[in-house]
Amino acid sequence: MKQIRILGNKILKGEIKISGAKNSAVALIPAAILSDEVVIENVPNISDVNALDDILNYLGAEIYKENDKLTINAKKISNKPITEEYSNMLRASYYFMGALLARFKKAEMYFPGGCKIGARPIDIHLMGFEKLGAEIKNDGDKYIIEAKKLIGAEIELPFPSVGATVNILMAASKAEGTTTIKNAAREPEIGNLVDLLINMGAKIEGKDTNTLTITGVSKLTGGVTKVIPDRIEAGTYILAGVMNGDKLKVSNMEPKHLDSLLNILKQMDADIIIEENSVIASKSDNLKAIDVTTAVYPGFPTDLQQPLTSLLIMAHGNSHIKETIYENRFQNVKYLNEMGANIEINGDTITIKGPSKLIGKVVTTSDLRAGAALILAALHAEGETTIKEVKYVLRGYGNIVKKLTNVGAQICLEDV
Ligand code: EPU
Repeated sequence: MKQIRILGNKILKGEIKISGAKNSAVALIPAAILSDEVVIENVPNISDVNALDDILNYLGAEIYKENDKLTINAKKISNKPITEEYSNMLRASYYFMGALLARFKKAEMYFPGGCKIGARPIDIHLMGFEKLGAEIKNDGDKYIIEAKKLIGAEIELPFPSVGATVNILMAASKAEGTTTIKNAAREPEIGNLVDLLINMGAKIEGKDTNTLTITGVSKLTGGVTKVIPDRIEAGTYILAGVMNGDKLKVSNMEPKHLDSLLNILKQMDADIIIEENSVIASKSDNLKAIDVTTAVYPGFPTDLQQPLTSLLIMAHGNSHIKETIYENRFQNVKYLNEMGANIEINGDTITIKGPSKLIGKVVTTSDLRAGAALILAALHAEGETTIKEVKYVLRGYGNIVKKLTNVGAQICLEDV
């Protein structure tokens, strides 16, 4: 088991450079099999990317890695069923549904893995494939999705699901005729994928809006793209700066992708300076309590809900966070309370009564962002915190120990 130990209450000073976005990279990599060769730059060093590389290798792709540049040659891949083990490795394994369907008109795999933060059904993805003409056979967790022909269709999503939008985009790029996705997700990571697909020869209109129009083409050619900066990683380190920083500079990022968080921090009177591609954050006293509701982009991201909770422990008064995207994303609360926080869970809402003093403890990570929240709390706490099961954190935060050590944190990763 991997665990992290942190000796808290150290000032964080210096610069943290943000890596490419996990949720972009995990869509761009499966999309590479839509053509023969794709080059992806600024790929983050995270275990979710390694898992996708393993699946690509299994399918017969050739992968060349050079620092953060990934060249994927999928010329010789074959359409093997994605095993249960591979499907379970991560959530984004399900992007092989759309990608294999586009390339071979058939995809066979199991229900995807990923963090257990809710039921996370895939009904909207399947509805989209069916509208494009695919037939779906489902036996327990196994899915066989097959189409004689993919034919463009009008698809209105009942919820702007990120995953369903990505999967339908890929399948529709190779369908005959025009597909319209209404109520599409418009997270910046989707724009990143749209750019790659256009680069590969796809015809897509409506980037960054909630209506995407895709005119299918019979062949996609090689493409080059750069993963956009990870807004959730950036947000996490900005929160670390507001909790412990002395002009901690979070750079290589896109502040406009984080408007929702930065506005909340301003309302709380946090000490932040926003520059063109960076945010400088310092430890802020007298933070005001605030009420926040998670929402789809451009609303406040659910992926920053747990990290924000750790900051709100420092705020004066009662803060509330309502989680509207996932049913089970408060698993960090138990451990934050053990460290000294005063947080109550009431259905989909938590009340954080601050300020409370945090003290180092032995805690356990249940999912990726819960782990980030516990790391933030540990960096702020008096004494030493041991965070168990940090394999979840390594799914999404590349070089986290090195990045934090470089700015003055006392943190180590251990295999126990
Ligand atoms: N949903 C359905 N049916 C579907 C698809 C989604 O009911 O067919 C529901 C989900 O159960 C959930 C909500 O819709 O309650 C949002 O799901 P969405 O499909 O938008 O999310 P996702 O594609 O599963 C991606 C990210 C998540 C991030 C969400 C929202 C990846 C691999 N994952 O998940 O990232 O929380 O979008 O922005 O891109 C994370 O990074 O920590 C993480 C969980």
